[in-house]
Amino acid sequence: MMRLDKFLAHSGFGTRKEVKQLIKEYRVTVNDQMNVKDKTQIDETADIIKVDGAPIIYETYTYVMLNKPAGVISATDDCVHETIMDCLEGVFVKGMFPFGRLDKDSEGLLIISNDGKLAHRLLSPKHHVDKEYEVHLDTPLTKDDLRQIAQGIQLKDFTTKPAIVKEYDDCILHLTIQEGKFHQIKRMMEALGHNVVYLKRIRFGDLWLDESLDLGEWRYLSEDEIQQLRRNGEQQHETIS
Ligand code: URA
Repeated sequence: MMRLDKFLAHSGFGTRKEVKQLIKEYRVTVNDQMNVKDKTQIDETADIIKVDGAPIIYETYTYVMLNKPAGVISATDDCVHETIMDCLEGVFVKGMFPFGRLDKDSEGLLIISNDGKLAHRLLSPKHHVDKEYEVHLDTPLTKDDLRQIAQGIQLKDFTTKPAIVKEYDDCILHLTIQEGKFHQIKRMMEALGHNVVYLKRIRFGDLWLDESLDLGEWRYLSEDEIQQLRRNGEQQHETIS
């Protein structure tokens, strides 16, 4: 048994607030009854829930946060290399995939789930989800580098969107980007004349890497964290500027 609003949110109909609105608008029925509330308890294995007349088949999703170690590739299957799935001992991994990728030598926050709808919303370029990294360089950043990072850097095939440097100390910076192009940070830094010697993702949307996770350790996301990710997937218009 579970609450109707939780069932709808889990089924991809938006945040708890949004699904409450659907219920208020009488667009949701339980066994063809319209008189339902967000708190109505439903049996997800037996009751027939419809939204706008279409029945919803309940699927349970799994959401995991991994502190990816270097040396492991962000793929689900590989005959040669160790993959992130090899780190997920104890998780039923069928259908799960990473929300975005980290390079083999990068570390840090990776969300792994089988919720394709949410992945699509979070990864689609129009949703502008922040990704924050701790970046270590071989040579110190200059004021001019900071200006270029904030304005956008011309790479061979595209110009990066404005990015934010939050903290920096000579060769170490916290950099937030909203894109996720191949080797993006390494390429940005190379264009400025620096090599990245260490790279760790510390934030995805509003979700921070749980620093209590050692490298290679994982944990399930809490209900609040899943809701937070869903809200990040709805934020379309907030761009770094
Ligand atoms: N940018 C990179 O260059 N590598 C990563 O792993 C992530 C962002």
